[in-house]
Amino acid sequence: MRIDIITVAPELLESPFNHSIIQRAKDKGLAEIHLHNLRDYGLGNYRQIDDYQFGGGAGMVLMIEPIANCIEDLLKERDYDEIIYMTPDAQTLNQSISNTLSLKENILILTGHYKGVDQRIRDKYVTLEISIGDYVLTGGELAAAVVCDSIVRLIPGVLGDETSALTDSFQDNLLSPPVYTRPADYKGMKVPDVLLSGNFPKIEEWRSEKAYERTQKIRPDLLDE
Ligand code: ADE
Repeated sequence: MRIDIITVAPELLESPFNHSIIQRAKDKGLAEIHLHNLRDYGLGNYRQIDDYQFGGGAGMVLMIEPIANCIEDLLKERDYDEIIYMTPDAQTLNQSISNTLSLKENILILTGHYKGVDQRIRDKYVTLEISIGDYVLTGGELAAAVVCDSIVRLIPGVLGDETSALTDSFQDNLLSPPVYTRPADYKGMKVPDVLLSGNFPKIEEWRSEKAYERTQKIRPDLLDE
């Protein structure tokens, strides 16, 4: 998978992609992430990328021209399966969206700043808009990092143990059950006997039960879906 990201703050995105699972995916040649600095497409001597909004109101808007020029340049190189705009005024990311995106070949992510991008960019180029939650970040970079992390780990071959993504929270609309590791008894706090029993059907049954209980308690909305 190749992911291109258009950003006004590339430095915010360098570090998250040089660690852990994303780094492993890059090392294995399963994922490439390329950052494009919108400022390189800025207009005039000052490389202007934003301007006041028509109609008045606080906050700057990212201008159409720099973004359109950047996207058009990228489109000369390849087609994208999805052009994603990170914005709080969109559907919220969930595991099902991440699963779908993990199967794509080429993804372009546009991150907003200030009041966001000129609506005409969204109308003309964007095929999918994603929010990572009902709160407003300074820019879309951290949100883009979240999206990339959640999809890259799902690319077949990225996780060492292929089954581990399948047992994540949300894969079947349930939260994960509790997990334990050694010691089996820490100052009298004991691991549930069933997990030490070696009876795998029973262990699976216990895990399903606990996943259901936890979901009902913390996220009952997931059970309605
Ligand atoms: N940009 C600013 N806030 C955001 C959010 N919650 N999700 C996605 N992009 C954003």
